[in-house]
Amino acid sequence: MDRRNQTRIYEFLLLGLSERPEQQPLLFGLFLGIYLVTVLGNLLIILAIGSDMHLHTPMYFFLANLSVSDIGFVSTIIPKMLDNIGSGSKLISYGECLTQLYFFGLFADLDNFLLAVMALDRYVAISQPLHYALIMTSQRCALLVAGSWVITAFHALVHTLLLTRLSFCGPNIIPHFFCDLVPLLKLACSSTYVNNLLLILVAGTLLVGPFVCIFTSYFYIALAVLRMDSPQGKQRAFSSCTSHLSVVSLFYSTAIGVYLCPPSSSSPSGGKDRVFSVMYTVVTPMLNPFIYSLRNREMKGALGKLLRRKTLFSES
Ligand SMILES: *[C@@H]1O[C@H](CO)[C@@H](O)[C@H](O)[C@H]1NC(C)=O
Repeated sequence: MDRRNQTRIYEFLLLGLSERPEQQPLLFGLFLGIYLVTVLGNLLIILAIGSDMHLHTPMYFFLANLSVSDIGFVSTIIPKMLDNIGSGSKLISYGECLTQLYFFGLFADLDNFLLAVMALDRYVAISQPLHYALIMTSQRCALLVAGSWVITAFHALVHTLLLTRLSFCGPNIIPHFFCDLVPLLKLACSSTYVNNLLLILVAGTLLVGPFVCIFTSYFYIALAVLRMDSPQGKQRAFSSCTSHLSVVSLFYSTAIGVYLCPPSSSSPSGGKDRVFSVMYTVVTPMLNPFIYSLRNREMKGALGKLLRRKTLFSES
């Protein structure tokens, strides 16, 4: 390969969700709204959990961590998107692109890991109710959360560093609304063999591992619930899982839509894939707080208390 002939690319063009000028104001308003709702909703969850002693349990600590991760997730994608729509420019610099890639990988993985940790927590709570406090000690919870952070931060770093080895010599158009790994690899003009290998081996394991953990946990939860004698016990066990199960279903159904459905060949820029990506990257983090606060009496109580206290403070 003759490197002198290659012009090095220092910036990319993000096509965004739509290239039609008349749709830009609508998209801007929509995503600004989604961003504000997501950040506020998740902040309220974190504050409610932090301020209510009843919610100082592993399940709610994990939920607060999931909210932190969701805020990070949308903040990686939406502000740059709004900036590009607002300024009418599609440019993203090489450095910005790599930063986005790193944090997107980190938070997407982290959501996945935290959902698995939460499933494990539900499994222990339901099948070992008497030993729950002994098993889920605060040290173990901290270890699970810290472990998830370390693994996902390292994994995202490896992918990002491997990407810096590639040369990009044009075209530089990314038919997406943020810098995701697969569209970037398609633009590289040096060999992406190692990157693809790592993507399949490690990313595959890190995605499938938590999924298997969630699936197995719920399999044993279902067995434990079926074995219970009292209908009230069954009811209580089941209702402590519904919020988590809803979030898990939403996360995986949209993620599977993005990564397993073959890209539509009819539209070259893959409009339908981008819509699935929006569901997975933007809508799921927005809905998590609603799923948890609408379906859960404890969470509703804590939020109510938090909001009443805030209005009392502002009145006095
Ligand atoms: C995240 O989880 C850890 C361990 O359970 C907990 O100590 C910490 O407070 C949580 N973070 C938030 C923001 O609640």
